[in-house]
Amino acid sequence: MIHETIQGDDVPALGLGTWQLKGATCYDAVRHALDLGVHHIDTAEMYGNEAEVGRAVHDAPTDRDAVFLTTKVWHTNLRPDDVRAAAEGSLRKLRTDYVDLLLIHWPNASVPLEHTLDALLDLKAAGKTRHIGVSNFPPSLVRQALDHTSIFCNQVEYHPFLSQAPLLDLARTHDFLLTAYSPLAKGSVMNRSLSPRRALKALKQDSAPADRLANALKNLLGTGTGTLQALADQYGKSPAQIAIRWLVQQDHVAAIPRSSDPDHRAANADVFDFSLSDEEMQLIHGLARSDRKVDPHFAPHWEA
Ligand SMILES: NC(=O)c1ccc[n+]([C@@H]2O[C@H](COP(=O)([O-])OP(=O)(O)OC[C@H]3O[C@@H](n4cnc5c(N)ncnc54)[C@H](OP(=O)(O)O)[C@@H]3O)[C@@H](O)[C@H]2O)c1
Repeated sequence: MIHETIQGDDVPALGLGTWQLKGATCYDAVRHALDLGVHHIDTAEMYGNEAEVGRAVHDAPTDRDAVFLTTKVWHTNLRPDDVRAAAEGSLRKLRTDYVDLLLIHWPNASVPLEHTLDALLDLKAAGKTRHIGVSNFPPSLVRQALDHTSIFCNQVEYHPFLSQAPLLDLARTHDFLLTAYSPLAKGSVMNRSLSPRRALKALKQDSAPADRLANALKNLLGTGTGTLQALADQYGKSPAQIAIRWLVQQDHVAAIPRSSDPDHRAANADVFDFSLSDEEMQLIHGLARSDRKVDPHFAPHWEA
């Protein structure tokens, strides 16, 4: 396992995502991940599975202190009283006195960011979370947060088909973790080609006109998956394992792939017996094409 050292604390660079994992599937996934040595678990009040995550962490032989547990406060709960109530509810369901990381799940422009951050800082001072952070914050909002206090993490979508270069610069300069969600691009890294519908969506989202055609063509041709497959063949791994390795090998980056399948979970954890060369890392960076998978109506302006 690779660890990222952030502000002097070690975080496992590979975690388990749990969005959409419910009931026994969620419980089994968390128990299995911990057995595999994946001691980093990501949940959120919005996922509706904190009780199962908490029961699995509680029942597992792994010491609670050896697990890096993250949860998140939903964007409609960012007023200070609501933050406190949400965090208390999460801790109760998670059966723990503290989480390792408490995140603002999405920004909400109708609540002053400083008020929410102060509420999180109060929870940290009370020992209810070891660290505080944000999720889905574009660079401008990260800077606004940093003007007020230091953050431990920004959790954002990051995979071979979506660059996060400006946020990575900020993460390394200000020593916070960039946790890559949807690290497998929701399964796209395994697809040989992408649909024209997705290509058109990416075309519409791209702000730099000169790149639009190239991005759309890359999407249509699915060239990225060809590159990942070639590297996978070379290392005797799968494209998913290449994508995960590429992420966890980056400084200040952790990845939290989700899987309901035990074989997939075992494969996703089996990425520490090889490494990608600098040239291969750059080759994968070159696949970025603004292929954003998570973009709800309440999302911030990503390029801000
Ligand atoms: N902060 C946020 O707003 C936010 C947003 C989205 C996600 N997240 C977090 O990030 C986590 C991961 O993102 P995600 O769930 O969107 O997508 P993801 O991890 O990129 O992809 C999950 C998909 O990949 C498949 N998969 C996983 N490992 C595989 C393997 N080795 N081979 C083949 N298929 C594989 C899974 O299917 P199987 O189940 O069949 O394996 C599932 O369909 C979430 O669970 C959540 O914890 C956070």
